[in-house]
Amino acid sequence: MTRRCDVLVIGAGLAGMACALELPSRMSVILLSKVRLPAGSTCLAQGGLAAPVAPDDSIDLHIADTVAAGGDLVDRAVARRIISSGPALVEKLRSWGVPLEGTDNGLGGMEGGHSRRRVLHHTDRTGRWISENLAGLCRTRPNIEIMEGAFAINLITGPPGAEGSGDIPGHRCLGAYVLMGGEVHTFLSGETVIATGGAGKVYRYTSNDDWATGDGIAMAWRAGLPVRNMEFFQFHPTCLFHPERRNFLVTEALRGEGAVLLNLRGERFMERYDPAQMELAPRDVVARAIDSEMKRLGDDHVLLDARSLGRKRLEERFPEVTENVSALGILPWEEPIPVVPAAHYCVGGVVAGVDGETGMPGLRVIGEASSTGLHGANRLGSNSLLEAGVMGMEAARVIAEKGAEPPTRTVGDWYFGRATPLEESVLIDHAWAAIRSTMWDYVGIIRTDRRLRRALRILEVIDAEIDEDYWRLIPDVELLELRNLSTTARIIVLSALSRRESRGLHYNLDCREPVNPPRDTIIRN
Ligand code: FUM
Repeated sequence: MTRRCDVLVIGAGLAGMACALELPSRMSVILLSKVRLPAGSTCLAQGGLAAPVAPDDSIDLHIADTVAAGGDLVDRAVARRIISSGPALVEKLRSWGVPLEGTDNGLGGMEGGHSRRRVLHHTDRTGRWISENLAGLCRTRPNIEIMEGAFAINLITGPPGAEGSGDIPGHRCLGAYVLMGGEVHTFLSGETVIATGGAGKVYRYTSNDDWATGDGIAMAWRAGLPVRNMEFFQFHPTCLFHPERRNFLVTEALRGEGAVLLNLRGERFMERYDPAQMELAPRDVVARAIDSEMKRLGDDHVLLDARSLGRKRLEERFPEVTENVSALGILPWEEPIPVVPAAHYCVGGVVAGVDGETGMPGLRVIGEASSTGLHGANRLGSNSLLEAGVMGMEAARVIAEKGAEPPTRTVGDWYFGRATPLEESVLIDHAWAAIRSTMWDYVGIIRTDRRLRRALRILEVIDAEIDEDYWRLIPDVELLELRNLSTTARIIVLSALSRRESRGLHYNLDCREPVNPPRDTIIRN
């Protein structure tokens, strides 16, 4: 089946839904989600959305904090553009029925690296609140067709139209091949917007949900687009350490309200790593301190002590954390919460402008899958929902201005050839586990050249096997996700190997000092 629309949005987190909602009603929009809505990493965001709206805050202060966290790699012009759009985004969310706490009273949440209380939230269920409401609103819009269980396999690219060919000679994006209900459908669109989120599943332990498999980044890479700074993968310092819940985030906002980190001897170890900022140092500093403390003592976790907040405050302000850990028998007002760092946010991504513009006409990439330069070498917490929302709105604004019509030409249907169904799931399961262990063991918080080279060799073997399976098997979501995961993991390692210094989230024991002037890592297929 071939479907045509003005705008094809792939991914339904904040970025994708903000874009769909902001497009004018005259434009036909198809919003694809590989899982049921509400979905995307937005859903899991606890802390909130950073925006300079408090009376004691300013755009300049917010930019300064972003730049300070970003290891001298933040693009200041981009930071100014995104941060100054923060208040408008907050107002837009309010108009969509999603007011955020802290907007009107200067009592936003506090997180590491922020010098003001600017993290606007909805208790600690901010992401779910945004996702559920925006998904509900998208469903009411006659020009938006939501398709769930729709997995974009590959972009469709072709010769340039009147708009020019961009930096990939001869190519413009015409849409995507999409797996839905066991069939591969052809979607043709005037503009295609990738908003597929991050890739936390490349690591064995992650705060991300199963769907974060780097789909958009891998798809754009295959189409020849450049990706930037993929070596910077942010590890969240405090994910729950519990055998029954390995991917549950324990929000940084708890530390903003006074929770402290202890090692298993009960010592407040941040005193030795960053006595000035303590638990509110930027995430790279806190995650490395925890990692080093665990290695020093031979422990597999540390503790987050939130007892000083008291039961009432914990239940009112942090219901998500309190309910989830209590369900596992940990009462946070009585005992510290066991935590461990886990992969959380893909700071790098496909090179894109604030409006998602890429080097390929007809293709935009927004949200976590993109790299605008806002985060530099380390993202300031809660700047990502800000970036996602602003990019969604900006992409929609530019698409509306320029116009978008689906190509009239015909495009060949997906060709199955002699592909056969997968018979041995072990092939997928084993490769999936091997990639994630390799990344965790060799490409984690602390890296060395030897570990990175070993990771690359292992990943290249796995990648070649997956490629073989891809061509011989009928496409299926698990295989396609594995392929994307494998590609993304390789991109991360290639990027890490090419950075001959330590900076921000990339810490290599074989080259510990930063090299100036700072430079971006930009690679392409
Ligand atoms: O700790 C947190 O709530 C995470 C926030 C973020 O990653 O932006």
